Amino acid sequence: MKKQKSRSKKAVNRKARGFEEIDMRKTIQIEKIKSGIAGFDEMLRGGIPVGSLVVLSGSPGSGKTIFCLQFIYTGISKYNENCVLVLLEESKEEIFETGLEFGWDFEEFVKKKTLKVLTVNLYDFEILKNNIEDAIRSIDAKRLVIDPGVIFKLFFEKELDARKNIVALGKIIKKRKCTTIITNELSVEIGSSLYGLEEYVADGVVLLYHTRVKNKFIRSIAIVKMRNTQIMEQLKPLSITTSGIQVHIDSELFT
Ligand SMILES: Nc1ncnc2c1ncn2[C@@H]1O[C@H](COP(=O)(O)OP(=O)(O)O)[C@@H](O)[C@H]1O
Ligand SMILES: [Mg+2]
Repeated sequence: MKKQKSRSKKAVNRKARGFEEIDMRKTIQIEKIKSGIAGFDEMLRGGIPVGSLVVLSGSPGSGKTIFCLQFIYTGISKYNENCVLVLLEESKEEIFETGLEFGWDFEEFVKKKTLKVLTVNLYDFEILKNNIEDAIRSIDAKRLVIDPGVIFKLFFEKELDARKNIVALGKIIKKRKCTTIITNELSVEIGSSLYGLEEYVADGVVLLYHTRVKNKFIRSIAIVKMRNTQIMEQLKPLSITTSGIQVHIDSELFT
C-alpha cells in the first residue's frame, strides 16, 4: 500500500516536470490542417488535427458560416485541399453571396471541381450519408462542412437514432481523413445541443460568442475541447472584417 502510494507520487512529479516537453512532442507528431483563420490555428498549436470532427457553436450572427467559408476557401486556394459543403437547399445562393463579400468565389471552385456542394432535402439520412461519402471520395476531399448542423435534427425524432447515424458518418470522415466542421445554432428556444454530438462524437468543440457588454456587442472565441492537441484555454477576442475572421490571441478579452 505504502509502496504504491510513493510510486504514484513519483509519476505525478515526473509528469509535472516533463509535461511541456512530452506534450510538445505529441503535438508535433500529430498531423494538422490550417483553418486559415488567423490566430485560431495558434490557439491549437498549429491547426486542427487531421480527420477531426469539430462542432462550431454560436448564436445567430456569431460568424459560424463565415468561419466555415474561410476554412473551405483556405483549403482550396492555399493548400490544394478539395472540399465538400453540405447545406440546406434554400441557403446555397445566400452562402455563395456571403463568400463574394469577402472575395471568395465558390462558384469558380464548383466549376473547377475543387468544391462539391450538396444541398439537403428532407429524405433519407442513409442517402445523405452515402452522398456525403461519395462526394468526399469523388474529389478526395480533405475538408467537409455541414452548415447548419441542425440538418441532423430534421432527420430524427429520437436522439439515439441521430447519434448512431452521426457516429456512422464520423467513421467515414475518419477513414477518409476528412477534417469536418459542423455548425450548431445556439438559441434559447430550440435548445443548444446537437443531440449530444458534442459530448459523444465530436473531437472538438468551438464556441463563438457575440455578447453584449454595456452598449455594444463583443465577439470572442473559445476552444472548449480538441482531442490530440494542446489548446489555448482563454477566451480570445475576434473580429470580422472584409478579409474574414481574425482571432486576436495577443489581446485579452476584457481590459
Ligand atoms: N464584411 C463584413 N465585415 C464585418 N462584419 C461582417 C461582414 N459581413 C458579415 N459580417 C458580420 O457577420 C455576421 C454574420 O455572420 P454569419 O457567419 O452569417 O453568422 P452565423 O452563421 O453564425 O449566423 C453579420 O451579422 C455581421 O455582423
Ligand atoms: Mg450561418
